[in-house]
Amino acid sequence: MPETARGILMVLRVLPDVGRARTWTLGVCIVLTAGLPIVIAVLTGLLIGQIVSAAEAGPASAEAGAAITTLIAIGVLVVVERAIGPIMAATASTLGRDLDRYLQERVLSAVNRPGGIAHLEDPDVQDEIRIVRGLGMSAYRPSQTVEALPQVLSDWLRALGSAAVLFAFQWWLGLLWLVLWPVVVYRMQRDYARIGQEGYKQSTELRRAEYTRDLALNTPTAKEVRVWGMLDWLISRFDSTWRAAITPVREARRPRPATVLGSSGTILAINALSYGLLGWAAVRGDLELGALAVFVQALIGANSYALGDEHFYLSYASVTVPKLLTLERRLLQNRPREPRAALTAVADTAPREGIRFEQVTFRYPRAEREVLSGLDLDIEAGRSLAIVGENGAGKTTLVKLLSGLYEPTQGRITMDGADLAALDPAQWRRQVAVLFQDFARYHLPVRDNIGLGAPEHAGDLDKMRLAADRAGALDVIEALPHGWDTVLSREYENGVDLSGGQWQRIALARAMFAVEAGARVLVLDEPTAALDVRAEADLYERFLELTEGLTTCLISHRFSTVRRAERIVVLRDGVVAEDGGHEELLELGGHYSYMFNLQAERFRTDSVVSGEGGTDA
Ligand SMILES: Nc1ncnc2c1ncn2[C@@H]1O[C@H](COP(=O)(O)OP(=O)(O)O)[C@@H](O)[C@H]1O
Ligand SMILES: [Mg+2]
Repeated sequence: MPETARGILMVLRVLPDVGRARTWTLGVCIVLTAGLPIVIAVLTGLLIGQIVSAAEAGPASAEAGAAITTLIAIGVLVVVERAIGPIMAATASTLGRDLDRYLQERVLSAVNRPGGIAHLEDPDVQDEIRIVRGLGMSAYRPSQTVEALPQVLSDWLRALGSAAVLFAFQWWLGLLWLVLWPVVVYRMQRDYARIGQEGYKQSTELRRAEYTRDLALNTPTAKEVRVWGMLDWLISRFDSTWRAAITPVREARRPRPATVLGSSGTILAINALSYGLLGWAAVRGDLELGALAVFVQALIGANSYALGDEHFYLSYASVTVPKLLTLERRLLQNRPREPRAALTAVADTAPREGIRFEQVTFRYPRAEREVLSGLDLDIEAGRSLAIVGENGAGKTTLVKLLSGLYEPTQGRITMDGADLAALDPAQWRRQVAVLFQDFARYHLPVRDNIGLGAPEHAGDLDKMRLAADRAGALDVIEALPHGWDTVLSREYENGVDLSGGQWQRIALARAMFAVEAGARVLVLDEPTAALDVRAEADLYERFLELTEGLTTCLISHRFSTVRRAERIVVLRDGVVAEDGGHEELLELGGHYSYMFNLQAERFRTDSVVSGEGGTDA
């Protein structure tokens, strides 16, 4: 019970936030559902007494009038009682669904509240986020708690109220009822709650199973699933992980003989005792007919603890709410560093001087190896910088640090002299437009795919057109069947899919739109996978022209595509190994010069290449 009770209390505490009027309605319905049968029972007892008196006094007597009044009152109450059932069920159902949505929204915003993304790589956090993913369909829906609550609560109230009525017959019998039933229910609930808890313990296993299942369901993986003939493997893996996860839950679900026999035995015994005593009292003439009727009704009421699925849902689902709220609390508290006293505001014109990495060391959470080891780098405002390095050198990591998605393990990053960690992350990110290597392909209209670069300006079609034009995406968009409204996914009516290169231009347009909306730093992190060396070089050169005066970072593992940048740094072994202009670095005769010549050689002999390129190397 403690677990379930805690869950129920939490549900009750948040319900007013979900819907105040509905919560009140539900509360009133519960009380009426519980109380009306008791009142009706007592009135029925009263009526029986009144009828006996009325029969003696005659039809025109005051006694007969009283009996008729009572009869009418009972009639009204019976109608009210009938009417409340559907109202209560409908209210509970709506309120339940609203609770599901409310909790999802709370967790959604909590998951995104921490400035960084390190928490998303925490398996424990993912185990709990899985619960949110499943909220729409799983048996763990908190809405089921709300749907079960009115039934269970009104039953309990009625049972307790009825037990209280029995006090008038025999105080100790009433007390027995008051105590015994809750004990029985407590034991049952404990078993149910264990099932729910067991289910959560399997979150990691279930997450594995669901991942395997989704590989076979999702379009992005559809090609590989077929080409590699993965389906049988996926199904058998899904089957085994799923079974492994579900077996302990099934074990927990098996009824425990001690609980079942113990509780039914107890209930049987107390009922036998109560009816026996009532019968005995009636036979001896200690009880009037009216009182007997009331007490029999009360006994029936005292038995009205629901023992069905409601309890199951209650315990099951009530485990979810504490889990979600704990996750929320953890996400909101568990920031990479202590919450700062006050965040520094970021000016619209920032950065004026530049961004500086000072002895930055970085290691991913739970990783063995440092990616950056005491890196120093000055990114001057208003100039273009190229960062080159081989795959895995840490280029993307550097960008993630720059955009505040992670914080340095040691050292610090400053922007115009202020520690990045002290800046308002949302304001800082508004100044930075980053196009990542693995940019997102939103299954949304083109308009949104570009507008999301600066959601608060998303209505500005002029800016969007300009951005699309600069990114070379305007032609792509104008050729679409519904222009700017075309959904970029074939999974939707009239949607289309784009080629890799077209997607890339749309993503570039998104970054350019952020620039149009005011971002002062533009980072292009090899969004060029779909391009050949030549096209990448062209694109970077065009961007350097377009973004003159902006703080620009071009990132590439191809040493031959960024030579037009004002400054080039080579990232190697976690530090800046070389730093200078193209010519300077060539003269230096180091890694850049070696790699550039190696790649430019291939570049030159590439049959597609014409004109300049790496030829003057
Ligand atoms: N989220 C992560 N968790 C742990 N290690 C990571 C993560 N992302 C990247 N790495 C590791 O960090 C190193 C640098 O990666 P990355 O910055 O992506 O390199 P680059 O962009 O230069 O190719 C690689 O060894 C990579 O495996
Ligand atoms: Mg990278």
